[in-house]
Amino acid sequence: MRSKPVNRLGGARRRRARAGAPRQSKPGAAPRLRTFLIPIAVVIAAVVAGWALLRDASPMLGADAGDAALVALGAETYAAHCALCHGVNLEGEAGWRWQKADGTFPAPPHDANGHTWHHPDDYLFEYTRRGGAALAPAGFRSNMPSFADALSDAEIWASLAFIKSRWPDAIRSRQARLNGRAGVEV
Ligand code: HEC
Repeated sequence: MRSKPVNRLGGARRRRARAGAPRQSKPGAAPRLRTFLIPIAVVIAAVVAGWALLRDASPMLGADAGDAALVALGAETYAAHCALCHGVNLEGEAGWRWQKADGTFPAPPHDANGHTWHHPDDYLFEYTRRGGAALAPAGFRSNMPSFADALSDAEIWASLAFIKSRWPDAIRSRQARLNGRAGVEV
């Protein structure tokens, strides 16, 4: 009777060995590797293609102050969504340099007197789309709302094109030099 458990153990070990043997053989492994790699290759190809498409499309999205149709759309967008805080004439809120009692800042001008033109287009776009709370340093209380839900990307670019169209040439070319040099400051 004492020999039984030993036999069973030996049997189990043999079964494991038999079951394991085909799994390690090459004919079994190759198709599995292929079924695993093909979807990955497809995903990588799709990501690369998507990225290339986006890169091709990106020049269309931009704040081109020389595009009259874009600037016209931007003037409407600005009047409806930005003028309330940044001023009908881009002049900003009165006393915009001074922090308010609640720790927030008034809306700065978007004309040549403000600091909008100190930033590249992609920063201005992200600041408008995501809002001040998302981009400002931790602890900074911002009154600049996110426009991700209220405006399409095209409308945001248009409002920035309108703002830029109001800058004197010298300021426009200084800001243009920032584009492409700096990334989004997040
Ligand atoms: C409710 C008030 C309010 C509205 C509406 C608003 N802003 Fe602002 N915005 C601010 C404030 C306040 C700031 C100053 C930075 C901060 O407090 O985050 C600011 C800052 C910005 C900045 C960053 C400027 C810089 O020099 O860093 C951009 C760009 C901007 N706003 C664009 C827009 C655009 C475009 C619209 C309309 C689509 C808009 N804002 C509507 C309040 C507003």
